[in-house]
Amino acid sequence: MLKLPGLIDPHVHVREPGQTHKEDWDSVTQAALAGGVTMLLAMPNTKPPIFDAETLDLALDAARVKARCDYAQYLGAGPENAAEVARLAPSAAALKMYLDSTFGQLRLDDMTLWLEHFRQWPGTTPIVTHSESRSMAAALWMAQMFDKPLHIAHISLREEILLIKAAKEHGIKVTCEVCPHHLFLDLAGAQNCCAPTPGRIEVRPRLATQADVDALWENMAVIDCFATDHAPHTLAEKDGENPPPGFPGLETLLPLLLTAVDDGHLSIDDIIQKSVINPRRIFNLPEQPETWVEVDEKAEYELKANEMHSRCGWTPFEGWRVKGKVRKVVLRGRTAFEDGQILVEPGFGRNIREI
Ligand code: NCD
Ligand code: ZN
Repeated sequence: MLKLPGLIDPHVHVREPGQTHKEDWDSVTQAALAGGVTMLLAMPNTKPPIFDAETLDLALDAARVKARCDYAQYLGAGPENAAEVARLAPSAAALKMYLDSTFGQLRLDDMTLWLEHFRQWPGTTPIVTHSESRSMAAALWMAQMFDKPLHIAHISLREEILLIKAAKEHGIKVTCEVCPHHLFLDLAGAQNCCAPTPGRIEVRPRLATQADVDALWENMAVIDCFATDHAPHTLAEKDGENPPPGFPGLETLLPLLLTAVDDGHLSIDDIIQKSVINPRRIFNLPEQPETWVEVDEKAEYELKANEMHSRCGWTPFEGWRVKGKVRKVVLRGRTAFEDGQILVEPGFGRNIREI
């Protein structure tokens, strides 16, 4: 039996308020615990988006009564809320800026709108950007201009990881995260193996080429965090017209990473650094006392959505053979998950930014 610290996932779409048929604070925190994640940071592209005091309360009121693991809520950068989100910063996970198109309404097209956020955000936590390719380069430049820490969400391309490597070498305060689906799936491979409908492989950033996937693995040392970008949409939505982009990921993260360890591509220390130590430092998160995950490293099995806790009911990794199973999760002294069962009640989770 392997004992790991509780994992931190800095990128989760909870879907509450507004889209609880996809997921809510209860189901998402069950999925987290089943995946060995004891703390998650919730993205703000809900309905309504979380972008001021009132909407932050809306999300946190739901979380307070429903969450079973620890959490914090992101604020979203909008065209006119730079001063307000800066004031709310101590109560939030961090600030999220959507600079490229994806699911939800929070996109900032005009680059002059970014300026006020970079100017006013206090910088005790990073500005997290959804910024692909050239918009990532623009965000890097702005972070350097205002001397603010920047965290690039879900990088997927060779040019992105190499640009971040260069930026780090030049002393720019930049960190980045990579999602399992960009490490384990390439577009052509996914089209062949696990996409019964075209909607199933829709995700932002899109799945990339094998050369991009290889570059991420070759530059593992540049990757600060693993993040799931758990973005649940129902099967009916994924297989219907205009399928929304996004994959669930909380319950496949650790089995996929442990299988990579077994294959010799990663070390257990990589998992601890990128899923616990680095996210805690980057996002200024508290330690969780008496919290750990027990893993059966030898257990071999197939990933199956019908055994998972997410409400979305599917996974892009259906049927994948993996090695390494979460047996037990202890959170702040309570056994929260054991052998497939969730053992803590809704409301057990704490807002780690509560002041
Ligand atoms: C996310 C979602 O569904 O909220 N979708 C996705 O494809 N990743 C939004 C996002 O993170 O871009
Ligand atoms: Zn996301």
